[in-house]
Amino acid sequence: MSLIQPLSWRYATKKFDDAQKLTTEQLQELLKATQLSPSSYGLQHYKILIVEDKAIREQLREAAYGQSQLTDASQVIVFAAETGINEEYIKDYINQIAQERGVSREDLKSFEDSMLGIISHQTGDQIIAWSHKQAYLALGVLLTAAAEMGIDACPMEGFNAVKFDEILGLKEKGLTTSVIAPIGFRSEQDDYAKFAKVRKPDGNLFIHI
Ligand SMILES: Cc1cc2nc3c(=O)[nH]c(=O)nc-3n(C[C@H](O)[C@H](O)[C@H](O)COP(=O)(O)O)c2cc1C
Repeated sequence: MSLIQPLSWRYATKKFDDAQKLTTEQLQELLKATQLSPSSYGLQHYKILIVEDKAIREQLREAAYGQSQLTDASQVIVFAAETGINEEYIKDYINQIAQERGVSREDLKSFEDSMLGIISHQTGDQIIAWSHKQAYLALGVLLTAAAEMGIDACPMEGFNAVKFDEILGLKEKGLTTSVIAPIGFRSEQDDYAKFAKVRKPDGNLFIHI
């Protein structure tokens, strides 16, 4: 099925209908699609929080400059980047591959060494930047899957990440807020749904070489 129609239908939803919630099945399918996002080496350098708690969402709204999507959407999805991609993290991943693919750790040694080599040459900040990139990729998969399912979403980075980390207790979990996406269904009063899409014309976007 062509994705052009759903991607044209979707928009960054400003006003959600707070009476409409995703069904359990819709939420599960959307999360499953997001779980299938590719990531560098497959390390999935993030965790994904599904925030439903009303009181927490009120606090998050305040830390997101009052943006109403935080409280009115069905759920708020928070992509939280891993801050500590280290030897242990990689070892756990290699163990998982060995188990799920039925191969020996020895067979995976060159792959493991390649990842260990990468992290040994990176500063802590570079590793966090690497994690953020992967989180944004997962956001893209979520937005595309949501559009295909007729679910509205708003990608957002208009929030105070330090406050989000505090409210969600992320620092102690080795995480930091990357980007968020409230999901749900648009309000009929959201004029943004009617706005024409503004995108670079082909000649200014695509460079065929
Ligand atoms: C990473 C990212 C951060 C964004 N942050 C916000 C935000 O904080 N609040 C908001 O209302 N829209 C936000 N947007 C929505 C963009 O303004 C919107 O995607 C863009 O104008 C294109 O319009 P469309 O998504 O409706 O097609 C963000 C989009 C992206 C991709």
